Amino acid sequence: MAIRNIVKIGNDVLREHCKPVEKFDDRLATLLTDMTETMFKANGVGLAAPQVGILKRAVVISVDGETIYEMVNPVIKKKSGSQVGEEGCLSVPGRYGVVERPKKVVAEYYDRNGNKQTLYASGLLARAVCHELDHLDGILYVDKEIKESEN
Ligand code: NI
Repeated sequence: MAIRNIVKIGNDVLREHCKPVEKFDDRLATLLTDMTETMFKANGVGLAAPQVGILKRAVVISVDGETIYEMVNPVIKKKSGSQVGEEGCLSVPGRYGVVERPKKVVAEYYDRNGNKQTLYASGLLARAVCHELDHLDGILYVDKEIKESEN
């Protein structure tokens, strides 16, 4: 297990489209474990594989520091409602921005063993799911930030 380096904004790797995971092997398990360890070390609530330089569709999320979601090839199947709130990103250190997100999402994904799972998320967890899945398509929260001048 290891702490990995977190890629910062300005690095092109954060702007790539990530490829689906095809092999649910030891290498994937190590990546997911390292990502969780790296996220906790940095006091984050989510981390996507491209943030550690790996262009695969995998994210880890833990909004309460206890329940850890390891989501491989995740897809949002349903969105509803809206929430406007502050968001930060471990790849954009030292700042926060206001972003509108769905209030609730239903996401399907595979766990590290290749079993299909469904997550019903609301509030902060829904926000984290949306934020982390955006990373897999090269999107950062700063792209969606509501600037004060627009209010
Ligand atoms: Ni982020």
